[in-house]
Amino acid sequence: MSTTVPPSAPGGLPFDPAALADAEAAFRGAHPAFAETAIIDELRATEYGRLDERGDVYLDYTGGSLYAASQIDDHLRVLRDTTYGNPHSINPTSSASTVLVEQARAAVLRWFNAPEDEYACIFTPNATGALRLVGEAYPFGPDDTFLATFDNHNSVNGIREFARAHGARTAYVPLEAPDLRVNEGLLRRYLDEAAPARHKLFAYPAQSNFSGVKHSLDWIALAQERGWDVIVDCAAFVPTNRLDLSRVKPDFVPISFYKMFGYPTGLGALLARLPALERLERPWFSGGTVVAANVQGDLVVPLSGHALFEDGTVNYLGIPAIEIGLDHLERIGIDTISQRVAALCTWLLEALQELRHSDGSPATRIYGPATRDGRGGTISFNFLHPDGRMVDERFVDVIAAEHRISVRTGCFCNSGAGETAFSLSKDTLIGAEFADGMILDDYIRLIGMPTGGAVRVSLGLASNFADVHRFMHFATEFRDVTDIPADLPPRLAC
Ligand SMILES: Cc1ncc(COP(=O)(O)O)c(C=O)c1O
Repeated sequence: MSTTVPPSAPGGLPFDPAALADAEAAFRGAHPAFAETAIIDELRATEYGRLDERGDVYLDYTGGSLYAASQIDDHLRVLRDTTYGNPHSINPTSSASTVLVEQARAAVLRWFNAPEDEYACIFTPNATGALRLVGEAYPFGPDDTFLATFDNHNSVNGIREFARAHGARTAYVPLEAPDLRVNEGLLRRYLDEAAPARHKLFAYPAQSNFSGVKHSLDWIALAQERGWDVIVDCAAFVPTNRLDLSRVKPDFVPISFYKMFGYPTGLGALLARLPALERLERPWFSGGTVVAANVQGDLVVPLSGHALFEDGTVNYLGIPAIEIGLDHLERIGIDTISQRVAALCTWLLEALQELRHSDGSPATRIYGPATRDGRGGTISFNFLHPDGRMVDERFVDVIAAEHRISVRTGCFCNSGAGETAFSLSKDTLIGAEFADGMILDDYIRLIGMPTGGAVRVSLGLASNFADVHRFMHFATEFRDVTDIPADLPPRLAC
């Protein structure tokens, strides 16, 4: 049995290593293919040893993945061994940077199996930066449409502001409770309705950062056949799933590298199909994006391809760490990560739903599908009191910290999925104004949310059975809880 027993008993309940060993044996018996992911148990002890040395249970992989110790060593070696200069030049140190930046670009395209004559890889600060590039340059005009699913990160929702500023129509395809999926028949209707527009942009996530639902990649062709350009937000999908851009051909794919392999932060990419990229109209020019510019003749000659979209100097010291991270993922295997996350998620979903109070009432409410089918390793839920009220998510944070457990609480920047999960109607939201002087807590009360949001557990490349088992050990703290402290900190932002 390769599971590391935490060094100290967490939280208020006695921790029983024998119970962990028994539970892991039963889990492995039920999921024999889990043994094929043993490489992750080995790496957990070496590359990610800091987790168990400190007794940390990390369950926020959708927030950010974890880096292996060797990624940092390898990156430091690259920086120590050679001198790198600003790549906007042709001197030797500049050329050394250019070689590594272009090598990383090619490695990213290779990772996603994206043909170089079909896709460009544009380096950005993060997935949000990639989405902003599309939003601000998409040629929206009156009669054009921006369509998005309710299930989207706010960094996608923000594109509606660019659309509206150019007079375009915006629309949302709702989710269906309780599974938080999109009805495909309804989606087709939305896609068909906007037919006459010249420019139509549709955006959805390959995997929800709220519910873990995986939305169909078949929608890409479905929309493109109807004249839409398609953004598939893959920020929460690619850390644990294979994306093959030789098989599916979204026009725009935003990602963040820290979500894939933990390090470096501050770097993401926009993978863009070349014909779609050519349709974008940049609202400005800058250093790094022009062949030539002058002030007296008002001349601007823009560069093309990825260079047109990389403003100023790229993060040339950080970018080499991307190739190191991809090599690390390659050694583990993305399919191995998928398989492991699927098995652990199945166990955790069942365990959470089986958690009951002494009177037999359910102690949790899960948002999204109740089984593992068509979902990734992200689970959002609330603990319930025995009388059915929701346990304040801030109290969950307090107890989780005592157990050294890292989870996320709130609405995870996914407004539409949160609104559906908490049954907030359009009428309620239109009627509720966020008035001057209010804080988020006042607004939550005004719209009648039962608590400030959900609890999100997400699994990733270094997750092991002990993590989910310790989480369930922590979860039992909420059995039969009827009262919580009144002095929880105010909620200031979502
Ligand atoms: C689905 C999804 N899209 C976009 C983002 C934004 O990513 P970033 O904050 O790295 O820009 C996130 C972050 O959690 C996400 O989960």
